Amino acid sequence: MEKKNTVKTTTKKTAVKIKEEIPDKKKVIFLGSECAPFIATGGLADVMGSLPKALAKRGNYEVSVILPLYSNISDEFKSKFTYITNFNVSVGWRWQYCGVFSYEQDGVKYYFLDNEYYFKREGNIYGFYDDGERYAFFSRAALDTIARLDIYPDVINCNDWQTAASIIYLKGIYYGDEKFRRIKAVFTIHNIEYQGVFGIDTYEDLFGFSQNLRAFIEFDGNVNLMKGAIEMCDIVSTVSPTYASEIKNAYFAHGLENIIIRNEHKLFGILNGIDYDYYNPKTDKYLFKNYDEKDLSGKAVCKEELQKMLSLPVRSDVPIIAIISRLVSHKGLDLVRCTIEDLLKQDVQVIILGKGEISYENYFNHVAYNYKGKCVSIIAYNQDLSRKIYSGADIFLMPSKMEPCGLSQMIASRYGTVSVVRETGGLNDSIKAFYEGVGNGFTFHDYNAHDMLYTINEAIKTFYNKESWKKVQNNAMSSDFSWNKSSIEYENMYNK
Ligand code: GLC
Repeated sequence: MEKKNTVKTTTKKTAVKIKEEIPDKKKVIFLGSECAPFIATGGLADVMGSLPKALAKRGNYEVSVILPLYSNISDEFKSKFTYITNFNVSVGWRWQYCGVFSYEQDGVKYYFLDNEYYFKREGNIYGFYDDGERYAFFSRAALDTIARLDIYPDVINCNDWQTAASIIYLKGIYYGDEKFRRIKAVFTIHNIEYQGVFGIDTYEDLFGFSQNLRAFIEFDGNVNLMKGAIEMCDIVSTVSPTYASEIKNAYFAHGLENIIIRNEHKLFGILNGIDYDYYNPKTDKYLFKNYDEKDLSGKAVCKEELQKMLSLPVRSDVPIIAIISRLVSHKGLDLVRCTIEDLLKQDVQVIILGKGEISYENYFNHVAYNYKGKCVSIIAYNQDLSRKIYSGADIFLMPSKMEPCGLSQMIASRYGTVSVVRETGGLNDSIKAFYEGVGNGFTFHDYNAHDMLYTINEAIKTFYNKESWKKVQNNAMSSDFSWNKSSIEYENMYNK
């Protein structure tokens, strides 16, 4: 009798425990303007492609992503999408068609919103005269999709200005609907420089915002979508702790410092991760030879083949310094321009890969021409070549003036290429100065060309000391830049 009782109690306890451990899954929906592997032009796409996947893998959230169906998405993907429905969406006084397609991959449900008038364009995905209208449509259509498909989430996570209007619609218009009212809104800033600023004449005409929201949305006499989202969301997050504190400062905030300070109580900074399956020197199909931290012999082959490919003298004893970057001013290229000739007078090889402002493109081509056999510049955005450089180089230079997070320094580290960075934003949170065996790279504080050059020379000195180099390279490769830690932080933020 007694025994029976004990068993009964235990079973009951276990049953309760199981219930506690498997609560109903919560739902999060990400909104963004680009997402790897479907469509990518920058770091936002990497994050949109890897964070939802990491969250889905953890298993506590059901994760969906809503994206525009750009004509630039490859047919290989498009042929796999399934048509679900269509309806009309209000864009100011206009009614525009919206088709919805879906696709599932890695446990994440993707929805693509179709309207060829807005998203069938040649070449780039941004930079059109009607970008405001295109993303007003997308931001509103995303909410209508949620209603039509009855996929109301607990949390909606909007990213950057292109989806900022969703938060304004959610909190300002759709709020009347009980199901929308329950949704919590997170607005993630990947770069505060791009705010979605439009003439005030677009306020009602294009965005259909009501006048009572004007104090939230208007800034300096214009519509400012990012400002509106910061004011109206439940949580503002940004992509590194250092950047979260930097944007309270006029130097970094591009005018929004007071708005950030006013909303500081709901500000979070979570360092991005990178996709460890996608960026893996052990399996990367772009590499000349695969390797891992236990055996770097493959990296030596990568260096040799890279030198051959770029017509540089094949020498293992000379350090290769690489820059892989958009060629724009906030990447710190003025510092490079100031000192690159001093650097090239030494026994080094320098490789520059990137595209951007014409003055930088011309300048780096000019230097490469003058220093043939020591310096190569490739003006392109090229995934294949970038992997060959990440794996074949020794030192990775990223002296950004501002860097919300930065992913390249993490990728370089994973490929055993040691970073030299300026201590700003996510660079400051991910790269720690090498000293007495501890630290995974080289850093400098002031935005000063000769401080940078001094630090590069410290890295070069260390390169010649085999023991120390092995150590710093190992520290770089074993730094954990996967999403493991950060996806937990996102979950904790959502749970709040
Ligand atoms: C933006 C930022 C970059 C960040 C990326 C992903 O491109 O400029 O620093 O890594 O977004 O969050």
